[in-house]
Amino acid sequence: MVYTNKIKKLLNSRQLKELKDIKTVIKQKMPESLYRHSIKTMDFAVMLALKHYPDADINEDLVNKACISALLHDYGKILERQDLQDIVSRNVKGLTDFEKTCYPCLHAYAAPYLIKRDFGINDKEIYNAISRHTTGSCDMSGLDRILYISDKLEAGRNYKNIEYLRQLSINNPDLCLLEVYKSNIIYVISKNCTLHPDTSRIWNYICGGYKNVT
Ligand SMILES: [Fe+2]
Repeated sequence: MVYTNKIKKLLNSRQLKELKDIKTVIKQKMPESLYRHSIKTMDFAVMLALKHYPDADINEDLVNKACISALLHDYGKILERQDLQDIVSRNVKGLTDFEKTCYPCLHAYAAPYLIKRDFGINDKEIYNAISRHTTGSCDMSGLDRILYISDKLEAGRNYKNIEYLRQLSINNPDLCLLEVYKSNIIYVISKNCTLHPDTSRIWNYICGGYKNVT
């Protein structure tokens, strides 16, 4: 992976070992395609973190959290629908009725419980980034944005306009978030699937944060 190689100089040995251990576990538990997607999402996330958050002090922590979030963002997908629903209804507070039954979102909502249980990860920022990676939110941190974009633009993805979106992620990340969110809404509608009820609020939030630098 092009960018992941750079973390060897940036992260300490404990952080690198944690990442290696996570990779070992997910390689065993995930189907090959999902494992590869997770690794490529991490590579893209490292690229974005290094590009947009060059400050060395912030960078180490952000890069580390971006790597963990990316590797584990789809960890919930190793479970069946009913298991995910049971985990969410027993362990995740504050979800709406829509969220408790929205299958494409369940793996994201179940992830904080699962990664605490299986990896001992106890980090609110990582929990938020993973919980929000399918729907976005009205209050997205830098880490949330990195994971949301990386999941949709990693090197294994291939759809119309993706090269344009990848360029935007480097040159204009605010516009990139807007465009990626837009393409996600269009995709969901094209599949005749339900949209999260907060979609218009999140869209307006992202529009408000978009800075036109051209
Ligand atoms: Fe994903």
